[in-house]
Parts: sequence; structure tokens; C-alpha cells
Amino acid sequence: MPPLLQAALDARLRAHAPFSHFLVGAAIEAEDGRIFAGCNVENSSYGLTICAERTAIFRAVAEGAKRFTRIAVVADTPKLTPPCGACRQVLWDLCGDLEIILFNLQGESASFRLKDLLPHAFDATFLN
Ligand code: THU
Repeated sequence: MPPLLQAALDARLRAHAPFSHFLVGAAIEAEDGRIFAGCNVENSSYGLTICAERTAIFRAVAEGAKRFTRIAVVADTPKLTPPCGACRQVLWDLCGDLEIILFNLQGESASFRLKDLLPHAFDATFLN
């Protein structure tokens, strides 16, 4: 099992999802090779829930990582679970055109580029 996928699988088991019972794990790889994992962390005030992908990228940024190559996302769904719109926007801002690898517990996987999942993205270049 590649370390990035293993990190996402391990993180999924740490998901705090008492409301949805939908466990998600993510692991992002920095250019320097470091891997940062995240899981979804739900809240009784539902809107405060944070997805696995954002947990992983925020953790990476907090640890000083700046450039990223790819993120792996795992959920237990026959149709591979993609990042939500909010996570796509956050990843675009912090990572640019990242590779996104989705997989499930059956070992099925698919790879995408973020620019294809979030076309015509808004970002800091519009703020000048
Ligand atoms: N969730 C993620 O963590 N990542 C995704 O890509 C999709 C959704 C979480 C948020 C919430 O805790 C649960 O899955 C159900 O939406």
C-alpha cells in the first residue's frame, strides 16, 4: 500500500462522524515528501463540521508546508467520493492544480486534476 493511501485510510478510522456516520480520510503530500493526514470532524452545530480534505490541508499549512503535489481521499462508497465544493475552493487557493486521487475500501481509485473539478475558479488573482 503506498504511504499516501495508507495515511488516508488510517485517518479515516479517526473520523469524528457521530451524526452522519460517514467516515472520510484524506492525506496530502508536500513537495518535500511530508504527508499530512486529516479526517472529517463533525459538530453538533452541523455547519461547523469540517471535511477530511480541509483538516489535512490546514494541518499541513500549520506545520509549515507550502507546496503540494497530490491529495488522496478515501470513503466507503461504491461511487468514489469527491471533495465538496468548499474543499475544492480551499485546495485551489492553497495548492493550485493539485492531483486528486479518490479511492474506496474495495481498492478502486481514480485520479483527477483540481482544475478539472473546479473550472473557472475564483482566487487571489482577482483581488488585485
Ligand atoms: N465529507 C468529507 O469529509 N469529505 C468529502 O469529500 C465529502 C464529505 C464529510 C463531511 C461530513 O462529516 C460527512 O462527510 C457527510 O457529509
